[in-house]
Amino acid sequence: MWYLGGKIRLSKYIVPIIKYYIKSENSLFIDLFCGGCNIIDKIDNTNNKIANDNNKYLISMWNNIDKVDLSEIKITKEHYDEVRNNKDYYEDWYVGFIGFHFSYGGKFFGGFARSRYEDHIERSCTKTIKQYEYLKNVYFSHQDYKYYSNVKDAVIYCDSPYDNCTQKSTKYLSSFDHREFWEWVRKMSKYNTVLISEKIAPDDFEVIWEKSHNSNMSYIKSDKTSEKLFKYKRS
Ligand SMILES: C[S@@+](CC[C@H](N)C(=O)[O-])C[C@H]1O[C@@H](n2cnc3c(N)ncnc32)[C@H](O)[C@@H]1O
Repeated sequence: MWYLGGKIRLSKYIVPIIKYYIKSENSLFIDLFCGGCNIIDKIDNTNNKIANDNNKYLISMWNNIDKVDLSEIKITKEHYDEVRNNKDYYEDWYVGFIGFHFSYGGKFFGGFARSRYEDHIERSCTKTIKQYEYLKNVYFSHQDYKYYSNVKDAVIYCDSPYDNCTQKSTKYLSSFDHREFWEWVRKMSKYNTVLISEKIAPDDFEVIWEKSHNSNMSYIKSDKTSEKLFKYKRS
C-alpha cells in the first residue's frame, strides 16, 4: 500500500535482515508501527505476526479490507470531501480506506489524489486488496507502541516517525517523543531483538544497514541523510 514514509522501495533490503533474526516459524514478529504493512507483508518465515499502529482508521481498514467493494465506491473529490468532513457518520474502516487511498502520497486525508491517469486511485485500491492476501495470518492491533512493553523473545521492527531533526520542512513535524522511544528500545532490547528504521540515533545504537535514497516526500528531497537500520549496541 502506498503510504507516507512507507518502506515499499526499501523492503527488499530490510526484509532479509529482519528474517535473519527470526529463528523459527513460531517466533513472534511485531511490526510495531505498521502503516501500509509494506514490511510485514513479506515476512514469511514465521506464522506468529502482529501488525500494530496507533491510527484507529488504518487498523480498522486492515481488519475489514474484505468488505471493500470497489464497484460501490464513488471515486470523486466530492465523495472524498464528504467522508473527510463526516468521519463519525461512516464506519472507521471505510474512513481509513478512503482517507489513505484517495489521498496524494498516501497521506491520510492529505489532499485528493488528482492524477493524469484516470484509474490511478482504482489501481492503488486494487493493489492494497491484493496485498492483503499476504496479511491473512497477521493479527492487527491498534495500540500505542508502549502497550508491548512486557513482550519477550520477539523480533520487533520499529518504523517510527522520523526524528524531526532530519527534516528540512516543518510539514512532517510530529508530536512523537523520540527521547522516550529510544529509552524504551534500550529496555526492550534486553529480552528482544529490536530493529529501528531511522536516519539518526543516539550513540549507543549501531548501524547494521545503510542506504542513501530519494525520499518519496518531495519536500525533503534535498535531505541527503541516508536510510539506516539501527540496533542497540548492548543487546
Ligand atoms: C513511517 S510510518 C510506517 C510505515 C510502514 N512501515 C510502511 O512501510 O508502510 C509510521 C507509523 O507510525 C504510526 N505511529 C505514530 N505514533 C505511534 C505510536 N505512538 N504508537 C504506534 N504507532 C504510531 C503512524 O500512524 C504511522 O502509520
